[in-house]
Amino acid sequence: MIGIGSDHGGYALKQEILGLLKEKGYAYKDFGGYDENAIDYPDIARPVAQAVLDGTCETGIVICGTGIGISITANKIKGIRCALCSDHFSAVATREHNNANMLALGGRNTGPEVAKDIVMAFLTTEFSNDERHIRRINKIED
Ligand code: RB5
Repeated sequence: MIGIGSDHGGYALKQEILGLLKEKGYAYKDFGGYDENAIDYPDIARPVAQAVLDGTCETGIVICGTGIGISITANKIKGIRCALCSDHFSAVATREHNNANMLALGGRNTGPEVAKDIVMAFLTTEFSNDERHIRRINKIED
């Protein structure tokens, strides 16, 4: 299950990503917002992060205008490693190296096709399980 959520700044891009997830057959839970009315991104980041931490969702995708506010919020929550990505390389690298469990996107700075490519790269790349990366992730958690 993929948890997904956005504020108003990410709403339009979220609709594109929902279409992609449907097309590719991924199960997802949409944590809102459910329209373009203004909402506060921390109110969306928190329940998506919680669902990742409690195992309801294997991963989370959060979207605000820039991806910055919603990723900062998610990363305040212990156990969350939320990667703000605007390119394919970073999406692959953050799964392989950081074992990122959430992806953040910017709805106002990342076009839908680039964002879809990032999402697919993120969802299909496994953690390397390399000892040095595990050591570094453990240091983040400490
Ligand atoms: C909302 O206008 C905007 O501030 C928000 O979507 C995000 O970009 C914050 O980081």
